[in-house]
Amino acid sequence: MRVNMNHASTSGTKPREVIDALTAFLSGNSHQSAGRGGDEVAAARAALESRIALAKFFGAANPVQVIFTSGATESLNMAIYGLTGAGCHALATSLEHNAVARPLRLLERPGRIEVSWLPCGADGSFDPRSIHQAIRPNTRLLVMTHASNVLGNVLPVAAAFEIAKGYGLFTLLDAAQTAGHIEVKLDKNTDAIAFAGHKGLRGVAGVGGLILSAGVAEKMSLWKAGGTGSHSQSLDMPEFLPDRLEPGTPNLLGIISLGAAVEAIAAAGLETVRRHEKSLVTRFVTGLRQLPLILYGDYDEERWTPVVSLNIPGMDGGLLARRLSDEFGIETRSGLHCSPLAHKTIGTFPQGALRFSLGAETTAREVDYVLEALAKITAGR
Ligand SMILES: Cc1ncc(COP(=O)(O)O)c(C=O)c1O
Repeated sequence: MRVNMNHASTSGTKPREVIDALTAFLSGNSHQSAGRGGDEVAAARAALESRIALAKFFGAANPVQVIFTSGATESLNMAIYGLTGAGCHALATSLEHNAVARPLRLLERPGRIEVSWLPCGADGSFDPRSIHQAIRPNTRLLVMTHASNVLGNVLPVAAAFEIAKGYGLFTLLDAAQTAGHIEVKLDKNTDAIAFAGHKGLRGVAGVGGLILSAGVAEKMSLWKAGGTGSHSQSLDMPEFLPDRLEPGTPNLLGIISLGAAVEAIAAAGLETVRRHEKSLVTRFVTGLRQLPLILYGDYDEERWTPVVSLNIPGMDGGLLARRLSDEFGIETRSGLHCSPLAHKTIGTFPQGALRFSLGAETTAREVDYVLEALAKITAGR
């Protein structure tokens, strides 16, 4: 039996709707670049249909507010650069993934911007009121993860963004770990949402996006430029969306997979997915609490996504991952999960922890099997 407990890295099997959409497009079209020759009409229509589906999914009024990128990392780089200018101060939490931390550091190191890290508790708790103390006259941006990729807890983003907006900041949400698991919607206090296509949404890898509130794109400095197949007489990027923020040949297959993926979630019902994942995490955590191991995070409240991290005292996480894989066919992820800040916050730096992450296709049988495997490994310790 092979069990995928690493969905937070990337989803496993893709929904039938995604496979069918890709197969249909691939078998009907070999030229796939809108505005650059080939079967432009089919390519443009496919991209537009996905854009419309994504706009609906994330609550954007106009499909041009959906910007396709190569993934959450590119979206975050584009928005962090675009929403900060020289001399700005940015805020982020101490649970951020390196996809937020490193772009901030890249701008901080040469002195372009200043960064403050808002402290979170070892259980993943975050008090949005800490924003008040961190504000400076030049503070311009609050970027924060929607849910930690180490602890799985959902942060109080609505309260944090409300406070940030009171100071006139731009607000940027990293929804890499929440899109497809819980509702993620653009609202009056959110300027931009970065998401990954291949995780909870279950599209293919190499695509993601940025959902922008109306009017914010015009205020973003450009991070990237190139051909768009439009206004080609000019050396400047077009002013209109989505072209202004989408230079280069798009990943059309990725974009098609995303459209089909969000339609599959809408058809199944996000609440149904959520209920399924929630019942599995409850089952898993209840079982884990019977075993001699250290469980990180707070699972008593309902603020989590299907991510659970733990350590077995005295056992290296990498070794545990290897044993689970070799002896039981269970795939997990050990180490720092690209989130050294989060591991420092929960006290597991530099050794890290072992992360189990479930997905929409995980079954109760798989959860029980993992619990049995952990019971065998921990027996007699
Ligand atoms: C919280 C968080 N943000 C951003 C990312 C980056 O996503 P991608 O590597 O798909 O660009 C990840 C990936 O694990 C993540 O967990």
